[in-house]
Order: sequence, then structure tokens, then C-alpha cells
Amino acid sequence: MARTVAVLIGSLRKASLNRKLAEALMARAAPELTFQVVELGDMPLYDPDLEDAGPPAAWTAFRRQIASADALLFVTPEYNRSVPAALKNALDVGSRPMGASVWNGKPGAIVTGSPGAVGGFGANHHLRQSLVFLNVPTMQQPEAYIGGLGKLFDDAGNVATEATGEFLTKIMAAFAAWIERNAAP
Ligand code: FNR
Repeated sequence: MARTVAVLIGSLRKASLNRKLAEALMARAAPELTFQVVELGDMPLYDPDLEDAGPPAAWTAFRRQIASADALLFVTPEYNRSVPAALKNALDVGSRPMGASVWNGKPGAIVTGSPGAVGGFGANHHLRQSLVFLNVPTMQQPEAYIGGLGKLFDDAGNVATEATGEFLTKIMAAFAAWIERNAAP
């Protein structure tokens, strides 16, 4: 069935390897999935006083984008063995006001990527911890810690390593099935 997936990328930089990874994942997905990359960089840090004063327009736009999606794909680097602040801020913004979280019940998947060998394991599991609280049923298998990102893409941005390309396809096939099992009817 046709589903829309909000894609949240934890890196803000233009030449982000994780953005390339997100693009490679989207390109490998089944045609019933439509993707919308939701930009995180222009949202003020979450502050309940701003909420009380009338939420910033960037928060409201973000909440609307997430609310209209059927599912969530997180693609992120690891910062200091945890979730980059921009992505954590997005989680916090979407979780409030209390009782109106836009995350609630939407199926999700996490792919972490790093030039290093560990593939963002720490960020992956810290993010998973927040998503438990936010009631996002998050795909468990295949686990997706993509190491060696610095060498993964050729100059045109294509995945240069066949085995990794196949793994990305496998992730997206499993995610499509996960969405069908867990999305709101
Ligand atoms: C990093 N990087 C990093 N890498 C990693 O594997 N584990 C880590 O804990 C960290 N910590 C970290 C902190 C900060 C503040 C920065 C800026 C970077 C390196 C990081 O994986 C690398 O810069 C990636 O290229 C970032 O992803 P994008 O921006 O290319 O998508």
C-alpha cells in the first residue's frame, strides 16, 4: 500500500555522507514508499517558554510534516557516541505539547553511518532509547550500522561497494514490510 515516509537526517552539513546514505536508501526502496526529507537545521532549541508564548513557525511546520507521514526513517551520524543535537532537538520538538506528540505509533527504522568502523552504534542505540519512550515501533532487524562511509560513494554519489548496496536494499525491503505490519490502517 502507498505510504509516505519522513526522512530525518542527523547531519546538517551540505556534503554530509549520511545524506548520501539516505539518498542511496531511498533509491533502493519499493515504489509504494514516497519519501520526504524533513530539514532539521532551522528549528530553535526546544524551550517550553517559547511553546507557552506561541510556538515558533519552524516547530509548527516540522510537527505538521511529521504528523502527515505514515512512517519515519532516521539516518544519522554519531556525535560523541550519541545522537547529534539537531536530531535530538527534533525529537524533543515533536514530542510536545504533552499529549500531542507527533511521533506516537509511527513505525520507524534507524540507519547510522560513520567513516569509522563502528558505524554509529552508540548513536543508533541512544536514538532507539528515545524512540521507545516516544512509542515509535522501531525495526530491530537488520541492524544497520554502516561503517567506512568515507569510501562508500563514488564521485557521482553512487554506492561503490556492491555488498553494501545489497545490504541497503535489504534494509529497505525489511522496512517496507515493517511499515505494513505497524502503520495505522
Ligand atoms: C564526530 N564523528 C564521530 N564518528 C563516530 O564514529 N563516532 C563519534 O562518536 C563521532 N563523534 C563526532 C563528534 C562530532 C562533534 C563530529 C562533528 C563528528 C565523526 C563523524 O562520524 C564524521 O564527521 C561524519 O562524516 C559525520 O557525518 P556526515 O556529516 O558526513 O553525515
